Amino acid sequence: MSTRNIVLRPVVTQEMKDAAVRVLESGHYIRTTPDEVSEGKSLEQEFGAFVARSDRGRPHVANVANGTAAMQLAWLICDIQPGDEIIVPANTFSSVAHCVTLVGAKPVFADVEPDIYNIDPKSVEAVLTPRTRGIMPVHTAGHAADMDPIMAIAKKHDLVVVEDACQCIGGRYKGEPVGTFGGVGTYSFVQNKSLTCGGEGGALASFDEAKMRRAFNLANHGRGAQFHAGNRSEHPTFEVIHDEAGFNYRQSEILSAIARVQLRSLPQWIRIRKQRADLYRMLIADADLPVSTFLPRPWADHSYVRFEMRVPQHRDPLMRHLQANGIKAQIHYPTPLHLDEPYKSKYGYRAGMLPAAEQLAKEILTLPLYPQLTEDDCEYVVGHMKTFFAQLARTVS
Ligand SMILES: Cc1ncc(COP(=O)(O)O)c(C=O)c1O
Repeated sequence: MSTRNIVLRPVVTQEMKDAAVRVLESGHYIRTTPDEVSEGKSLEQEFGAFVARSDRGRPHVANVANGTAAMQLAWLICDIQPGDEIIVPANTFSSVAHCVTLVGAKPVFADVEPDIYNIDPKSVEAVLTPRTRGIMPVHTAGHAADMDPIMAIAKKHDLVVVEDACQCIGGRYKGEPVGTFGGVGTYSFVQNKSLTCGGEGGALASFDEAKMRRAFNLANHGRGAQFHAGNRSEHPTFEVIHDEAGFNYRQSEILSAIARVQLRSLPQWIRIRKQRADLYRMLIADADLPVSTFLPRPWADHSYVRFEMRVPQHRDPLMRHLQANGIKAQIHYPTPLHLDEPYKSKYGYRAGMLPAAEQLAKEILTLPLYPQLTEDDCEYVVGHMKTFFAQLARTVS
């Protein structure tokens, strides 16, 4: 078998190139007011339609620089204060905890469900304290977190829920798009997600229009309504430019234009991802390999930003074998966040406190999954998994 290169590659179409060049030539690279004719404004409307609910319609959307900016802004617009505690899952991307920290609050880690890798509602209940103000369920790798019990806990204890849907654009819970269950949903368009712009991008969504306007303003240096109104005249003068101190978390118009084109292809790309995930699962089951794959829960419509499996033994040598054969297998995530600096020593976490997340970190392995992955590629990947375990069996006997 000749070596292939099975690694995530961008989909680049002529339409995307044309969109980027059109904005480049226009000279309008930055959107500074919410309602100006712009790629960012159009993306907000189109993304809102993409995540619209059957019962409530389109949420309001704020287009920002990346998913991390979206999450930090989400906590700010929910008025999370220093000293507040926010419950987050332990096995996730670092910025989930960092964003809580950067608004002065304390991330409190909860354990995860061993099959879907998402925050375990029972563990959320176990780590509640009188200082708990919010919960961030993360919809991991395209599979929704179990939102009903999480929302029930939030209601009972009057907590804010900000959903991290960065890895789950196009994913659904009980038929409705993730990111629309809590107060705010956050999304990433970074290059390894299902919508990739030209490398970086993000959004927040909420049915609270005032919150989304505040997120937009905070992402634009904190400039407010007077600036937006005055900026339309030729010689603007302002009494109040800034409503509050803000950031520059804007997304470039060039990237927003590319995202708009990609959004139209996204349902088709997710369909291919699902087919390839089903094939991986079938090939692995047919080969009777000593790894565990899981079916999505009946209430989840999986968008498969990654294909994850558990490898109880020999995970790292298997990964190295796959990589040596051109297959970019990866570990998401090698260290659960409660055992990583800056959280372990600061908050006194120890190994053994969140057993499911810790075991997952030792076993999880991610196979490449992207729209151009062919059925042949899937067979190549599983073929190399078979070779690895066959060689292992020979070495042991
Ligand atoms: C679960 C999760 N949350 C948040 C982020 C942050 O998104 P970004 O890289 O766009 O800042 C990522 C992305 O990498 C992620 O996987």
